[in-house]
Amino acid sequence: MAARGLLLASLVLSCFLLPCYGTVLFSSLQKTLVVKATPTSGQVLRAGVDKITVTWGLNQTLPAGTYSAYRTIKVKLCYAPISQVDRAWRKTEDHLNKDRTCQFKIVARPYNSANKTAQSLEWTIERDVPTSTYFIRAYAYNAEEKEVAYGQTTDAHKTTDLFQIEAISGRHTTMDICSICFSAFSVVSLFGFFYKEKRNAKRAQ
Ligand SMILES: *[C@@H]1O[C@H](CO)[C@@H](O)[C@H](O)[C@H]1NC(C)=O
Ligand SMILES: *[C@@H]1O[C@H](CO)[C@@H](O)[C@H](O)[C@H]1NC(C)=O
Repeated sequence: MAARGLLLASLVLSCFLLPCYGTVLFSSLQKTLVVKATPTSGQVLRAGVDKITVTWGLNQTLPAGTYSAYRTIKVKLCYAPISQVDRAWRKTEDHLNKDRTCQFKIVARPYNSANKTAQSLEWTIERDVPTSTYFIRAYAYNAEEKEVAYGQTTDAHKTTDLFQIEAISGRHTTMDICSICFSAFSVVSLFGFFYKEKRNAKRAQ
């Protein structure tokens, strides 16, 4: 039991230190999705009240075979704080399983290869979206549920067509603080787990 716990813990730990097995690199994805959204550049929208219309489809100029692996399209709301334009961490983390820029799922739809029509959806901004600057990104996933392609409403440096969302009642939780808390929490719980397993192992002897 203790051995299994240790093995599990070291697997989890190696996931923190090394990229987890099978991780997908953002830089390896094809940019074949064309994504558009209604907010104009700089527009201010209210969380829990205003709606965004998102349209996503395929870049029709690419060869038909390009899309054969796509099974699901997920559309997400992504964070791009304008005040930190020059900070390296503002970039999408290349290991997508560690990336926290696109935390809000808007929709997931099966990709229908027979239907090349662009899809569209009206989404009311969720109430828990914090005040910041955002854009929309869509990912295409293959049968193994790994990202294979993407498209977004902003340019590669996340500087164009950003819109703002204002949280209800001055909720100003910046997501970078949240993500620090999350990682601290994971590390603390991991050490807690280690300690407990070690104590159990001692007791078993
Ligand atoms: C479609 O792909 C071509 C070739 O990669 C690219 O030049 C063009 O800008 C893309 N169109 C859109 C709307 O993204
Ligand atoms: C393609 O998808 C659109 C949007 O979901 C739908 O309205 C349309 O009927 C579909 N067309 C076909 C041929 O399935």
